[in-house]
Amino acid sequence: MKQWIDSLRKEHQLPDEAYKQLLTCLDADVTSYLHQQAREVTLSCFGNKIYIRGLIEISNCCRNDCLYCGIRKSNTQVERYRLTKEQILECCKEGYALGFRTFVLQGGEDRAQPVDWVAEVVQAIRLQYPDCAITLSLGEMTRNDYERLYKAGANRYLLRHETYNSTHYTTLHPKQMNIAHRLQCLRWLKEIGFQTGTGIMVGSPHQHISHIIEDIRFIEKLQPQMIGIGPFIPHQDTPFAQQPAGSVDMTLKLISIFRLMFPTVLIPSTTALASLGSDGRLRGILAGANVVMPNLSPATTRKKYALYNNKASLGAEAAEGLDLLGKQLATIGYEISTERGDYKKQL
Ligand code: 5AD
Repeated sequence: MKQWIDSLRKEHQLPDEAYKQLLTCLDADVTSYLHQQAREVTLSCFGNKIYIRGLIEISNCCRNDCLYCGIRKSNTQVERYRLTKEQILECCKEGYALGFRTFVLQGGEDRAQPVDWVAEVVQAIRLQYPDCAITLSLGEMTRNDYERLYKAGANRYLLRHETYNSTHYTTLHPKQMNIAHRLQCLRWLKEIGFQTGTGIMVGSPHQHISHIIEDIRFIEKLQPQMIGIGPFIPHQDTPFAQQPAGSVDMTLKLISIFRLMFPTVLIPSTTALASLGSDGRLRGILAGANVVMPNLSPATTRKKYALYNNKASLGAEAAEGLDLLGKQLATIGYEISTERGDYKKQL
């Protein structure tokens, strides 16, 4: 098994069978070797610096009805909100003062915040913060819309494909959605010039190891600049309320595998990982992640953006908790970087 890990580090790829055995292997020695190799690669590419991104959740209104998601359209328990342009700019102002140089605007697919409006917000941020990166995470759009947002000054786009397997995709999403369109969107984003992120939920209902292998193959082909991997966590007001959460260990293994496949890719230690255990954030970093995304949304709306139960949003998860995050990182020998942290193919 260790030879496979060495080979993955050197060649950046493995046969399907090897991925499968690595992912199902329960041997603690092998797992810690995998994480150690991944960590060494991260350290050699980025040093002990962890990039920070300020996450601004701009709307919890969504036209979609994804079965796993707490802000799905048919969840009537959600108190819906939309931030105004002024509120978003205020978040950026606070974030900039705290040291953030990337703002991530994330939200549901909300028709009431049409692309014209988003473009206007992006333009305003671009004008006021020319030294900052703007990342969008607003779901599927037309190619034209993505182009407009790019021209308005956005640099990066996050759109997890969630699962590459079309049958599995169908079990997670309403029938109006399909994987083909999702992938089309990802190709457009790359073509337009966005630094593009994709990824999956680990342990989503009905997911098999074979699906994860398909995800690895897809990501290998897409060559994204960012890869977001987090465990699935049930939300009480969704059809998946009774489903078990995804495995932290499997999530950590995937982070390491992707690090060895793509040495310079940007990999966040996700909030979902942090939500399943207080040491989740740090464990993600020790497995090879190099980005964290503290919450920069107004304190009053944070609770309302609940994609899953018990989402971490306090302490080191919050933008105001940056000192605490720094202290936590220091305990494992890492520190916060306030650089923009753009993707670079070679470092
Ligand atoms: N558990 C974990 N992650 C979730 N997401 C949405 N719902 C959940 C959930 N219940 C993730 C999806 C989406 C990202 C913004 O949040 O992968 O792409």
